Amino acid sequence: MSTKSKQSGKQHPICVIGAGHVGLVAAACFAEMGNNVVCVDNDKKKIEGLKKKNMPFYEPGLEPLVKKNMSKKRLRFSSSLSGSLRSSEVVFIAVGTPPQADGSADLTALEHVARNVADALDSYKLIVEKSTVPVQTGLKIKETISRYRTKEGKFDVASNPEFLREGKAVYDFFHPDRIVLGVESAKAERILKDIYHGFKAPIVVTSLVTAELIKHASNSFLAMKISYMNAVARVCDLSGAQVEKVAQAMGYDRRIGKEFLRSGIGYGGFCFPKDVEAFQYISGKLGYEFRLLREVKAINDGQPVFFLNKIREHLWVLKGKRIAVWGLSFKPDTDDMRFAPSVPLIGELLAEGARVYAYDPQAAKEARQVFKDVLSPKGNFVLCKTAEEAASRADCLCLLTEWEEFRTADWNRVKRKMAYPLLADGRNMLDPGQVKQCGFHYIGIGRKG
Ligand code: UDX
Repeated sequence: MSTKSKQSGKQHPICVIGAGHVGLVAAACFAEMGNNVVCVDNDKKKIEGLKKKNMPFYEPGLEPLVKKNMSKKRLRFSSSLSGSLRSSEVVFIAVGTPPQADGSADLTALEHVARNVADALDSYKLIVEKSTVPVQTGLKIKETISRYRTKEGKFDVASNPEFLREGKAVYDFFHPDRIVLGVESAKAERILKDIYHGFKAPIVVTSLVTAELIKHASNSFLAMKISYMNAVARVCDLSGAQVEKVAQAMGYDRRIGKEFLRSGIGYGGFCFPKDVEAFQYISGKLGYEFRLLREVKAINDGQPVFFLNKIREHLWVLKGKRIAVWGLSFKPDTDDMRFAPSVPLIGELLAEGARVYAYDPQAAKEARQVFKDVLSPKGNFVLCKTAEEAASRADCLCLLTEWEEFRTADWNRVKRKMAYPLLADGRNMLDPGQVKQCGFHYIGIGRKG
């Protein structure tokens, strides 16, 4: 579906609860399809900002969509949950389910929403889980609404998991590989099909609980693919094989597929780390110990350590060394640093007495917050305005996020700026031959330097 195409199915007033990555993107995209959408968040500052067209995070293509649909009066923002619920027929829940110490998800925000729906149930409402929730959450939402509703308003609960990637969220919304509808009534199915009218993707209609499980299984499988390749990369390192060639050849097998076979310092972000843990936790709670997922996490946690060992092997002593870090966000085209592998890696470098000079094209504000306790002059972490400034006089340059501007750097110039030309490529993004020609010592993951 192109962002220009308008839906021609029946319109239903939509409320999206949560103006985070999933919620705000969904709200803007539903509005772009011609729906009337209100997006609610209990973070008043965020909502006030959005009313003034200030975006709470960086996501390519989202800002123009929000602005356009606000001016067309199809998209509005509110911090009043009850009022917004009352004016809507379909309620997409995209609130956070943050991880707790034991790996389980904190469902307080969801319960709060369910209780508010119960209060506002003066006409039929379809409540749709959009962000990732533990399997069987739909049941709990249903129970909660039934328990606390004061009027006999009818409702359905459905699951329509979102698979969008940060940095490509708007594109992914309009070009899904599939649309999953977990429904328990013909009415709920009809409404959701109206909303997704015009999309070319296959629609999988299933039960509520199956739809919830599809989301768990998909995200954990993708994380498993990455950890698998990171484990293969270890064996490549030990045997002298080239992991990218291994991945390329594997990817030609359609049963394996080309995507998500890139080795590096590991996956991060607010989805994979949390979702793998949550799936492991919920499986255990249901009576199955998903040990494979424990290993997926262990491999991922080990990647920054493994990478740092390689740097240490080369530099010998890290104390007093000046280390440049290019890239802090968990992946390119986002300012998100949640569970980014750069965080434990930099933490370890600082703990060993290195001075870290970091640069990221988008995540500086985020980084200032994450590293506030170690920011220079208090600590040894310096945020630089340019990549070159970070590399200047460095003993090692670590590439931690594959931003496009790093790929096209003038490596001869960078080398001249550095005190010692060690290039540690945590994303296998550079051609080792090319940078070695410029005089660099190269460290990659699962590939010869
Ligand atoms: C992911 C899923 O892709 C998406 O479907 C789901 O809805 C939310 O979680 P996201 O976290 O935005 O999306 O990022 P994604 O592009 O999937 O990358 C996740 C992490 O895996 C990043 O840290 C990335 O660097 C890493 N990655 C990805 C690899 O290390 N190797 C790969 O081959 C692919």
